[in-house]
Amino acid sequence: MTTKIGIIGAGGMLQYHAAGFKAAGADLFAVCDMNQVAAKKAADEYGIPHIFSDSEKMLDELGELDAVSIITPNRTHRPLAIQSLNAGKHVFCEKPPALNAEEVSQMKSAADQAEKTLMFNFNNRARPESYALRKYIEAGEVGRINSAQAKWIRRTGIPGFGGWFTNKELSGGGPLIDLLHMVDLAMFYMDYPAPSYVLAQTFNDFIENKGFKGPWGIPDVQDGVTDVESAAHGFVRFETGQVLSFQVSWAEMNKREEVSVTFQGQKSGGMIRRLFGADGLDETAIDDCELYVQEHGRSVNRSIITEENQDMGRVRSAENFVRSINGEEKPLNTPDQALNLMRIIDSTYESARTGRPVDIA
Ligand SMILES: NC(=O)c1ccc[n+]([C@@H]2O[C@H](COP(=O)([O-])OP(=O)(O)OC[C@H]3O[C@@H](n4cnc5c(N)ncnc54)[C@H](O)[C@@H]3O)[C@@H](O)[C@H]2O)c1
Repeated sequence: MTTKIGIIGAGGMLQYHAAGFKAAGADLFAVCDMNQVAAKKAADEYGIPHIFSDSEKMLDELGELDAVSIITPNRTHRPLAIQSLNAGKHVFCEKPPALNAEEVSQMKSAADQAEKTLMFNFNNRARPESYALRKYIEAGEVGRINSAQAKWIRRTGIPGFGGWFTNKELSGGGPLIDLLHMVDLAMFYMDYPAPSYVLAQTFNDFIENKGFKGPWGIPDVQDGVTDVESAAHGFVRFETGQVLSFQVSWAEMNKREEVSVTFQGQKSGGMIRRLFGADGLDETAIDDCELYVQEHGRSVNRSIITEENQDMGRVRSAENFVRSINGEEKPLNTPDQALNLMRIIDSTYESARTGRPVDIA
């Protein structure tokens, strides 16, 4: 039987979810957006038969839905996921999982209770480079990853001023929570160890400076709230003795936008990196995926060639959700992993606030 999916949120990210669900053979059965114009436009574009403005109504009326995809601003992730899980639906939820670890914990409990799948869109795990690197890691060719460095850094990339992105109450935070992908990816490569300590600092130097606005995001909102960080730097120690450092920024004096994870394993090191062009993916953008080994007395750099992928795994990630609930693939992520990631994010803000290392255990 075809998997029937209800979409909540017909904004910028819908195109990737729609393409991934279709690639997995699922049926886009309903779209719900409180903005009726957006819902109608999406229904026309993707041939979706049912349109709603209220998710509760959609869940009440369409008992036959198998799964719900949540593509709305961060503050709504927890309530919409719990509502959908309580209605007996599998849930695919955009990142960040929620505003904080407590909320993710509630979502995980709802999924356990409903015995339904809850997955998050950590789409960078679905990039061809990520699949390739995981193969080497799973084959034991990297060995235990002792240390990793995660970066998503921008020079002028604030996603609009005063909208939900820059309002902590609505977003949960700034670049640390918005660009959490590389911290997640590094931990994915490290086999998701449990974090024990975080020492971190946040900065907000340019957060009100319109000169640091990026090409992505939503329109500015006059007199809106702008109370999140513009950059975060931190160091995490895991219970296993592995360590991770991270740098995340929307606005900072960096040379260019870099999205990367570098790691040092006991057998080999490696790197996955996208250097963006001046205006996103222009001809100066560079993708790299490498392994570093010692062979026959020499240092050898292996360059892993993968197919080109502009969308950073977004379509493949949505496809993996459908294939996971249908038992065709292993899920690329779990609620426990999301919880550990959110604990690191919470502890980063706590460490920045107190000026102290935070003991997570
Ligand atoms: N994985 C990625 O690469 C990636 C990239 C960008 C954004 N995102 C995430 O996707 C989510 C959505 O971002 P976006 O850029 O698509 O936002 P958007 O503002 O373009 O779209 C959100 C839509 O949700 C609707 N909406 C809000 N609350 C609703 C509710 N309670 N019920 C029904 N509809 C509701 C809005 O009307 C809007 O049309 C965010 O959590 C963001 O962090 C992920």
